[in-house]
Amino acid sequence: MSDKGGLEGIVVARSELCSIDGQNGILVYRGYDIRDLAEHASYEEVAYLLLRGDLPSSSELAAFKSDLAAARVVSGEAAQVVDLIAQDAKPMEMLRTAVSATSFDDADKDSNEEDANQRKALRLIAKIPTLIGRYQRRREGKEPVEPDPELDYATNFLTMLRGERPTAEEARTFDVAMILHADHEMNASTFTARVIASTLSDMHSAVVGAIGALKGPLHGGANEQVMKTLEAVGSVEEVDEEVHRRLVEKQRIMGFGHRVYKTMDPRAAILKEYAHALSERADGTEPNWYEMSRRMEEIVLAEKGLYPNVDFYSASTYHYLRIPTDLFTTLFVASRVVGWSAHVIEQHRDNRLIRPNSEYVGPARRAYPVGSR
Ligand code: CMC
Repeated sequence: MSDKGGLEGIVVARSELCSIDGQNGILVYRGYDIRDLAEHASYEEVAYLLLRGDLPSSSELAAFKSDLAAARVVSGEAAQVVDLIAQDAKPMEMLRTAVSATSFDDADKDSNEEDANQRKALRLIAKIPTLIGRYQRRREGKEPVEPDPELDYATNFLTMLRGERPTAEEARTFDVAMILHADHEMNASTFTARVIASTLSDMHSAVVGAIGALKGPLHGGANEQVMKTLEAVGSVEEVDEEVHRRLVEKQRIMGFGHRVYKTMDPRAAILKEYAHALSERADGTEPNWYEMSRRMEEIVLAEKGLYPNVDFYSASTYHYLRIPTDLFTTLFVASRVVGWSAHVIEQHRDNRLIRPNSEYVGPARRAYPVGSR
C-alpha cells in the first residue's frame, strides 16, 4: 500500500470511459477532450457517448433525447417519498432516499443484463432532476412543476427547479456544467459504485451508495462549502485577510487541491469563464462572487501551490443561476449518475468481486482471559 494511504496511485479497474492527465490538466471522455465536448456537445450527447460507447448520429440522439424526456415523470412511491420528507430531509438525504425508491416500480430491477442496465441508467438520468425539482418546490410550499417533454434537459431542469424558464445563456451554462461533471475516472463515488456492482448487486444500489460517497465535503459536497466560504468572506476587499487567516489556522480551503491534477483542473478553467460571463450580467445587488473567487485563486496558488478544482467555480456559476446553495451537490449527482451507471455497466460486463486486503496492525494473537475479568 502507498505510504500515505487512500489508495493513491493504485489502479483498481480497466475502463474505456475517462482518462485524466493530471500533470497537464487534460480530461478526456472516450477519447474526446472535455474542452471540445463543452464547446460543441449537449449533456444528452455526452450521456449517450459515455453510456453507449460513441457519439450518437443525429437520429440516434433524437431518439435518445425523446426516451429521456419520456422517462422524466416521477410518480408513485418515489414521488410520495419526496412529498413526505421535503420539509425535514436535507437535499442529499432526500436524494439518497428518493433515488432508492425509484427502483420499487422499475421493471428491470432484478436484472443486471446490459439492456436492462441501459434502461435503468436512462430512467435514473431522466428522473433525478424531477426529484430535485419536486423537492425544491415542495419545501417552498409550492406545487411541483411537471417535467416538459418538449424541453431539452437543461431547460427542463432549471424550469422545474425555479418555476420559470431560464434564458438561453443560463440553460447553456447549466448544460455545460452537467457535461463537465458527468464522469471523472476512479473518483471515490465511482469506486463505491463499482465495488457495489462487483458483488452483482443492482444499478440502483450502486447509485445510492455512490450518492452517499459524493455527499462528503472532500468530494462533491465541496461545491456547497465553497459558496458558504464566499458568503462568509462577504466582499472582494475581505478576501486576502480571510483566506490568510484560514491558511494560518491550517483550514482546508474548499474547492482547491486534487488527488490527480497537479495543475488547473480543466473543468474549473471552463466554469471560470462561465462564472465570469454571468458576473458581468449581475445586477450589482450582491458581492462580486466571480472577482472574489478569482482573488482567492491567486492567493491559494501563491501561498499553497494549490489550483482550483471543479467545485470552485461551479459554486459561483450555480449561484448566478439562482440555485439555492444547499442544492449544489444534488446537481453533481444529477450529472455524475451518467458516469456511475456507465461504470456499473462496464463492471457488470466483465465482473470480478472487488475485495482487496487490509494490513493487520492490531494486537498479536493472545489468549481469551477466561474467568479473570
Ligand atoms: N486547502 C488547504 N490545504 C490543502 C488543501 C486545501 N483545499 N488540499 C490539500 N491541502 C494540503 C493538505 O493539508 C496537505 O498538506 P500537508 O502535507 O502539509 O499535511 C497536502 O495539501 C496534501 O493533502 P491531502 O489531503 O493528502 O491530498 P489528497 O490528494 O488526499 O486531497 C483533496 C485531495 C481534494 C481531498 C484535497 O485537496 C481537499 O481536501 N480539498 C478540499 C476539498 C475539495 O475541494 N474537494 C473537491 C475535490 S475535486 C471534485 C470532487 O471530487 O468533488
